[in-house]
Amino acid sequence: MARTPITTQVAIMGAGPAGLMLSHLLAGQGIDSVVLEIRSRQAIQETVRAGILEHGTVNLLVDSGVSDRVLREGDRHDGIELRFNGESHRIDFKELVGESVWLYPQTDVFMDFAARREADGGDVRYSVTDTSVHDLEGKPKVWFTDADGQDFELQADFLVGADGSRSHCRRRIPEAARTQYFHEYPFAWFGILAEAPRSSEELIYANSEHGFALISQRTENVQRMYFQCDPAERAEDWDDERIWAEFRKRVNGNGFELKEGPVLEKMVLPFRSFVHAPMRHGNLFLAGDAAHTVPPTGAKGLNLAINDVKLLFEGLEYFYGSGSTALLDSYSDRALDRVWKAQHFSYWMTSMLHTPTDADDFARARQLGELRSVVSSEHGRAYLAEAYTGWPGR
Ligand code: PHB
Repeated sequence: MARTPITTQVAIMGAGPAGLMLSHLLAGQGIDSVVLEIRSRQAIQETVRAGILEHGTVNLLVDSGVSDRVLREGDRHDGIELRFNGESHRIDFKELVGESVWLYPQTDVFMDFAARREADGGDVRYSVTDTSVHDLEGKPKVWFTDADGQDFELQADFLVGADGSRSHCRRRIPEAARTQYFHEYPFAWFGILAEAPRSSEELIYANSEHGFALISQRTENVQRMYFQCDPAERAEDWDDERIWAEFRKRVNGNGFELKEGPVLEKMVLPFRSFVHAPMRHGNLFLAGDAAHTVPPTGAKGLNLAINDVKLLFEGLEYFYGSGSTALLDSYSDRALDRVWKAQHFSYWMTSMLHTPTDADDFARARQLGELRSVVSSEHGRAYLAEAYTGWPGR
């Protein structure tokens, strides 16, 4: 059977927050797009992802007109706690750099954009199969089969690969036309959702001789927490008691006690640092995890994706308004500027807070020296605060 031809201005692979936000912004300027997604809407909605938004990301979401739910239902955080040697040290974002972050899970960002695209009659097709992309250097085409089993050929002026860290689009870029930067870490995160009240007002990033732990939050009654583990660890080998014993060793002490409860979900989350440059090939543009991933310690992943979308949208809007590709031509360089700052910050937070598996006495004492040099200096705290809440300039 022949493929049914369809055309659009911008074909977007991936209906995560990046793909949907771009489609939403383009629609606001009368620019047509089709979004294709291999997962079902339900599956995306049920995936537990990270939850910290920079103030600039919150502004972009609210300014996009999608919803102000982040302001009504998200929690503003004016600082974090760094905990090491059994003591907590507050990094006061508000006082140091005058900014805050918002706890608002990525799943909610997805739901806001998915609902809005649906209400606006946007063309978003979930559960597509057999996707392949062609003619990246000319008029890009995407072959796919929709959820009803019908075959299509989608042709567009531009193709956007917002299809996540295992990006299919990225793989179609010839090797000679790209550089890939990798850094592997010898640890992963063991992540849980637990039914328990909050243990503290703010997030706790804990360094201990037993390894790193992060105490984050979701709601009044459900909390999100992580501890550093071996990447080969298997979640099913850990029952609730073993999990809580691990957290107690890493964060309890000096009058602080974690509030415990039934573990609702548990998972091992490997991570690495990755950058694909340039973020463009011909008429294919990469955005979000398709082009770069960061360790979760700096909470930068979604923020970078939203920044990419902002820049890409400006480039596409300018092109359709003026015929000039100037902003599209500089997209990759401008996006990578922030990507590499975030790569450095995420690497730094990860190496400062995690315990190296082969740590000798020198490594451990040096790490504590590094942590003290940050928390005891206003400049050190301000450096962390500025990076965590998001550098100015967008
Ligand atoms: C989360 O709440 O899932 C979370 C928060 C901060 C991080 C990473 C993950 O740095």
